Amino acid sequence: MTQPTAFSAAGDTTAPEWWRSAVIYQIYPRSFADANGDGVGDLAGIASRMDALENLGVDAVWLSPFMRSPQKDAGYDVTDYMSVDPLFGTIDDFDAMLASAHQRGIKVIVDLVPNHSSDTHEWFIEALAAAPGSPERGRYLFRDGKGENGELPPNNWESVFGGPAWTRTTNPDGTPGEWFLHLFDSTQPDFDWTNPEVREMFRGVLRFWLDRGVDGFRVDVAHGMIKAEGLPDYTPNPGGGSMGGDDFEVPYWGQEGVHEIYRDWHKVLAEYEGDRVLAAEAWINPLSKMAKWVRPDEMHQAFNFPYLETAWDAQALRPVIDESLEAFGAVGAPATWVLSNHDVVRHASRLALTAENPQGHGIGPKSPGQPMREVGLQRARAASAFMLALPGGAYMYQGEELGLPEVINLPDEARQDPTWFRTNGERYGRDGCRVPLPWEPGTTAYGFNTTGEAWLPQPDDWDDYSRAAQQGVAGSTLTMYTTALELRKRLDLGLGSVTWVEDLPDTVIGFRNGDVIVLGNTATTDWEIPAELAELPVLLASTTIAGNILPGDATIWLQA
Ligand code: NOJ
Repeated sequence: MTQPTAFSAAGDTTAPEWWRSAVIYQIYPRSFADANGDGVGDLAGIASRMDALENLGVDAVWLSPFMRSPQKDAGYDVTDYMSVDPLFGTIDDFDAMLASAHQRGIKVIVDLVPNHSSDTHEWFIEALAAAPGSPERGRYLFRDGKGENGELPPNNWESVFGGPAWTRTTNPDGTPGEWFLHLFDSTQPDFDWTNPEVREMFRGVLRFWLDRGVDGFRVDVAHGMIKAEGLPDYTPNPGGGSMGGDDFEVPYWGQEGVHEIYRDWHKVLAEYEGDRVLAAEAWINPLSKMAKWVRPDEMHQAFNFPYLETAWDAQALRPVIDESLEAFGAVGAPATWVLSNHDVVRHASRLALTAENPQGHGIGPKSPGQPMREVGLQRARAASAFMLALPGGAYMYQGEELGLPEVINLPDEARQDPTWFRTNGERYGRDGCRVPLPWEPGTTAYGFNTTGEAWLPQPDDWDDYSRAAQQGVAGSTLTMYTTALELRKRLDLGLGSVTWVEDLPDTVIGFRNGDVIVLGNTATTDWEIPAELAELPVLLASTTIAGNILPGDATIWLQA
């Protein structure tokens, strides 16, 4: 076979509706790069490493929250939506980071957390100080308890992080008062989105960031803002993931009323020049229902979690890809693809787990079905190479281009995810995918900073995963991603289509997109590529290819 070819194409990120084919890289600011050395990454750190993202070839970055917050849920608990937390820098640092991204043609998407605020938000402080029934309380969901003295929560809803979704307040005279709803931690009270004041406040938040020049928003819990009338009891499906996804009606997920909010936001974005994007984090099944979030007058993209939750298995992948293309295509939206983010076990470990692991639960030293690292890495590389050839938007999570595994052996005392505390350690939570990135081998904190501080401890054996150790090295995971992104752009795969290659064994999946034929072997054993395909030039391979053999857990791109 002929060897992989490298292209050096500069893509056009100024194209209209750039997001239809974009590769969007998630930056988790706490763990990306730490300029001031306090152990938590920051905006200046991101700006200082922008070259690496340009070299990788991403079209856009999405930043997880960096707004003022007590960090009870790593910034998904916002005190002030129009600010930068001093932990991450200043608003000037934000502007500088944005400018440095834009200079390189990289778009910037910020995270918006509209379902709930922090309990330190001035509105919640005012609400607690005000009387039941007051306008201040009306911005959140306060209710009387059940039982003779209101001692029972208003309904039986459970927090996504474990435990009840209600916390009781204390009146100024010390007596127990009303309860407030928090679908997540008790420090994250849910807004009442039927209140026009809440809607107006968030229009202002959108405009604040759009005025600064951001290219869009990733919308947190975009399926949760409206609750069913009367807040009826609901008992979740015991096998289900934590963030929704049930096929049947849940009174706090996927209520029809949320769509009105996105139609309104769509209009706000349309007031601005250029194509700005709204990306929904909506854990909704089936995909045909999720596609409602991206109807032409609503949001632009929705994370494809059913794809993320699919095993590396030819028989499972084909139907979810067909369903995605059909469901998103039916509303005129691009499909999206994602394998990792800051809420799930990194796919270099997840794809090799041998036991069930519901979303959000995480893995730790005592979890069953521990992954084998080498198997996980090979599978992750194969799955990523496969995903990056699909048409539509592709989301990456920082570190996956390095093949980073989940950090399983974090000491208990280092864990910070509220899930860990709210379940008394029964669920490890999400810290294992959030450990600060390795940049250089053999240096303090692997170059994350120069002080050696790290808000979560980095493992001792990460030298080989570091970016500098992989940069320009043939066969490294970073080189594979860089080549895949170059080819994807050069050959316009993001705007292409899928035609399945038929008559393959059950464990092999293949499709043609434009001039590229992609073959994935999801078995653990070799597969002999048929002669008519084997003679085609190889553009990309997730592993070393010898002769006509596609090894197990491998993907290859062939020039058709
Ligand atoms: C989804 C975010 O991705 C997650 O990290 C966060 O904990 C919850 N929403 C609550 O905001």
